[in-house]
Amino acid sequence: MSRRQIFAGNWKMYKTYNEAVDLVKGIMKDIADIGSKEVVVFPPAVYLRDIVSLCKNSGIDVGIQNIHFEKEGAFTGEISPLMAKDVEVRYALIGHSERRHVFHETDDEVNKKVKAALEAGLEPVVCVGELLEEREAGKSEDVVRRQTEVAFKDIDIKFVQKIIIAYEPVWAIGTGKVATPDIADTMHKSIRETVKKKYNEKTADGISILYGGSVKPENIAELYAKDNIDGVLVGGASLKIKSFLDIIHVAQ
Ligand code: 13P
Repeated sequence: MSRRQIFAGNWKMYKTYNEAVDLVKGIMKDIADIGSKEVVVFPPAVYLRDIVSLCKNSGIDVGIQNIHFEKEGAFTGEISPLMAKDVEVRYALIGHSERRHVFHETDDEVNKKVKAALEAGLEPVVCVGELLEEREAGKSEDVVRRQTEVAFKDIDIKFVQKIIIAYEPVWAIGTGKVATPDIADTMHKSIRETVKKKYNEKTADGISILYGGSVKPENIAELYAKDNIDGVLVGGASLKIKSFLDIIHVAQ
């Protein structure tokens, strides 16, 4: 089964406007030869409109790092799915570990955001992943199963193909401690099993599952060699033109 292969950069709260423009221009210069691999960037929201416009016909898709689940309302500082759609972003990152653990976003909120994104016509990239203490307690698969089940609660099968999952173990994010390819592959398999139980085998086989957490040019080859790893969600190494391009090019 061939699944979409996605190389995404999550810029988090980094880059001035000029730096963001330089970064995306640098990436687009050198992706003509990447075949069917897909490239996505998640810039800070205030730059989205300009980055979307720069990326038209460049082979780079753009996503928003977070959305609220309501269409509009008195939610100072928040951005609705409709607003993101209005500036023509394709993807919405939902439930990133920093949203879950720094901003205390719950599984239920993640589910509401997935539904709201789909309703607005955005494609959700749903992040799941366990904490270090959960891994050490042998609970990784249980935690990620629960996060996945709740994220997909009441989502009709016809929408599932619009959803991408990113497995990002919290202990590997920004720490330099990458999950071993075997750990990542096992977790991705387990996520696929959860999707299969809820929907069916074909649906589970078709869903792309990205790995995130200290991905670098030096470790991409062995991660990407794994059957269940369909691409990556890169933080730190996506902030430099060369390291992000190296990750995309090294992956075979
Ligand atoms: P790092 O690649 O910096 O570990 O961040 C991963 C991440 O959080 C991507 O969303």
